[in-house]
Parts: sequence; C-alpha cells; structure tokens
Amino acid sequence: MSGKKRILSGMRPTGALHLGNFHGALANWVKMQDEYDCFFFVADWHALTSDYEDPSAIKASSKEMVIDWLSVGLDPDDSTLFVQSSIKEHAELFLILTMLTPVPWLERNPTYKDQIIQLENKDLSTFGFLGYPVLQAADIIMYKANGVPVGVDQVPHVEITREIARRFNYLYTNVFPEPEAILTQTPKLLGLDNRKMSKSYGNTISLSESPEGIRKKVSTMVTDPQRQRKNDPGDPDVCNVFSFHKIYNAKDRVDTINEECRKAGIGCVDCKKEMAEKLIQALAPVQEKRKFFEENPDKVDEIVEAGNAKARKTAVATMEQVRDAIKMS
Ligand code: TRP
Ligand code: SF4
Repeated sequence: MSGKKRILSGMRPTGALHLGNFHGALANWVKMQDEYDCFFFVADWHALTSDYEDPSAIKASSKEMVIDWLSVGLDPDDSTLFVQSSIKEHAELFLILTMLTPVPWLERNPTYKDQIIQLENKDLSTFGFLGYPVLQAADIIMYKANGVPVGVDQVPHVEITREIARRFNYLYTNVFPEPEAILTQTPKLLGLDNRKMSKSYGNTISLSESPEGIRKKVSTMVTDPQRQRKNDPGDPDVCNVFSFHKIYNAKDRVDTINEECRKAGIGCVDCKKEMAEKLIQALAPVQEKRKFFEENPDKVDEIVEAGNAKARKTAVATMEQVRDAIKMS
C-alpha cells in the first residue's frame, strides 16, 4: 500500500480523442500520476445510456481511446487503466445503490435536464439514463476514491455520489469515504469555429490528425472577429489561435506575437501557419507512440487485461464488504 491518496476518473468512449479532451482532462490525469494512486477507466456502460440503439461502435471506440491515453503518457506502471464493463461488480453495486437512491435526487440533476435537451434527437426517457449518476457513484465508491478529477459539468454527479455514499454508510455501516471533486484548471481552447471543441460540432483537431490535416484545419480557424484586413490591429486576448500559441509556442514568441498582432505587424495567415507547425511538432511524439500501439494491438489488450485484473481485485474486496454490510453475504 502506498500512502498516496486515491483518485479515480472515467471517460465515455467517443473514439479518437481531440485537443479539447486532452487539455480538458487527459493532461491533468497524466500530471496526477506522480502524486496520486490513480484509477482511470473507460466508461463503456455509460456510453450505452445514450447509444443503446446502436452500440456497435462502443467497443472499437474504447480501444481507440485507450491507445490515445497510452500515447499521451498514461503509464500502466503508475495507473490502473481498466474497462468498466469488464468489472461486473460495478453492475452489482449499481443495483444495490439504486435501491437506496431517491428518484428526486436524479430528477433534480442539472446534467440530466441539460442532456435531455441537448440530445433531443435521441430518446433518453429511459431508466438507465435517469440512473446514470448512480452507476457513476458505483464506479467511484467501488474503489474508495478520495478524489475525482472532473470538469465542472460533472460536479453534480460527484455531489450525488457523496449523498449516496453517505446514505449507504448511514443505513448499514461505514464502508465508503465521501469523494471530492477535483476541479481541474484547463486552458481555454475552443474549436475551429470558436465554439466549444466537440465531436458533435465537427470543429475538432484530433490527437491523431496528420500534419497536412492540421495545416488545413488551422488555416480555417476563426481569429479576432473584429480584425477584417491585415492592416487592422488585432486583439490576441479574444483570438483562439493565440490561445493555441500560448500552449504550443515558445514564451518569447508568444510575447512578440502579442505585440505584433496589436499593431498589425503580423497577419493572421502567417500567425496560423506558425502555430500549425508548433502543434505538429508537439503532437509528433504522441503520434509516434500511437503508431507503435496501432502496430501492436495485442500490447494494448495486455495492458487493459492487467489493469482489469488489478481493478477487479479491489472491486471484489469492496463487494464483500458491501454484502456484509447489507447482511447478504
Ligand atoms: N460521466 C463522466 C463523463 O461523462 C464519465 C464517468 C463515468 C466518470 N463514471 C465516472 C467520471 C466516474 C468520473 C468518475 O465525463
Ligand atoms: Fe489571432 Fe494571430 Fe491573427 Fe492576432 S495575428 S488575430 S493572434 S491569428
């Protein structure tokens, strides 16, 4: 046992990840590996809550996502990487938790209401979709995680998790710590069109984007909307391209671009070209690792199997305590 605090987080498999996923979550996961005992998993059952009509892509998306995780530096020697549906204990704990979760807690969930509206083309009036946070609670407390690194949109789910854990402990016996959300600071990277970078908007740059693809996509990026002609001074503070420079370019170049843009000393076309090259350079090592795993898919399976085995050990132990607590062992 290490004295490290345990954190756990999951991601629904959406296929190849993009820069928004990376800077929004993954980059933080990679950093946290030193400080925490980390569990990261593919929430493939959660994908089923919205994709139950056609689940055929979930399996392949899961593998793609794990390849991205490994490529950006999640290290199976440091972190336990696993797949939710491989640990059947999650289903048992979910079932037990549903018994003690009041429906109004779920109906009040702001993410629930929001998603129903956002995904209006899907019929989400299902039991499983309403119960989404209960499954998430099972994921989290199964491993007795102390912290859950998530974006703001997921905070209500961690809050419901705490309430469920508290209710379980109160009704039976103290088994679960109440996990805390760890809100991650993320740089503000938008999509090509200045909306949130999202697969459903088709405005992403994926981690596996080719150099040519990157050049093409970056050339279409929205800049300072006020800057119509090259002679107009620009405002980097409202320019998404500049946000990218701040991440991928050298500090002194960022300062120079900041000054030059304001006095129309640099044009957006050149500015984008420079940024595209920096981005290509930054992604090169990630793509090299990806290539290795694409050529060695068995390695990926091995890593996931080893992670599943580690996760399962903890899950089996927790479920013994749970069955004891409810006097059903
Ligand atoms: N609901 C999370 C999302 O959509 C994914 C998820 C499932 C998760 N189970 C979790 C995140 C447990 C953190 C902990 O992003
Ligand atoms: Fe943005 Fe660069 Fe154009 Fe300035 S010069 S508006 S920073 S793209």
